[in-house]
Amino acid sequence: MIKIAILVSGNGTNAENIIKYFANNKNIEVSIVMSNKKDAYGLTRARNLNIATGYFNREEFTNGTTLRQFEQLGINWIILAGFLWLVPDIILNQYDGRIVNIHPSLLPKYGGKGMYGDKVHEAVVANHDKESGITIHTIDQHYDEGKTVFQATCQVLPTDNAHDVATKVHALEYEWFPRVIEKLVMNEKIEF
Ligand code: GAR
Repeated sequence: MIKIAILVSGNGTNAENIIKYFANNKNIEVSIVMSNKKDAYGLTRARNLNIATGYFNREEFTNGTTLRQFEQLGINWIILAGFLWLVPDIILNQYDGRIVNIHPSLLPKYGGKGMYGDKVHEAVVANHDKESGITIHTIDQHYDEGKTVFQATCQVLPTDNAHDVATKVHALEYEWFPRVIEKLVMNEKIEF
């Protein structure tokens, strides 16, 4: 069994979508959803779907406590689904190439510290971009960098506001993120 841990900082709609996608999968399981926020709604979503949950503070995340938990659970891959902290070297080194993030823009546009969620969509609208989309990438030491493994685009109309763009981008996330995760962890070509 390939075991996945999902990290969230907030609402957790992507985490829920991923959990549902892999329910009953013979090869892949979501073993735990963890957060840096005790009250992240993503943890509630996980509990409602009978998935184990966990919380860590900054010290536990950086001093190896969280890494030990991953290892004790036999976690093979870590998925960042709306997770807002940088992942420390101690975890990066152990899971090199096996930590995957989703970002709600076409990176390298609108990435970096502080660019998340609605801020990204507001910037897209303010710049009158004609398209936006999602980037799925393995991570490195920097915010929203690393190796891009998949992008998908959506049209942005002149009449769209940030909320409209968010809706389109979320739809892409729900459609593609679980399928890309599946290909990655099964070591299959990212082709659809
Ligand atoms: C998603 O749109 C994800 O792409 C974004 O946060 C949202 C989380 O939504 N991530 C980032 O901006 C990371 N820089 P969710 O909690 O409902 O899945």
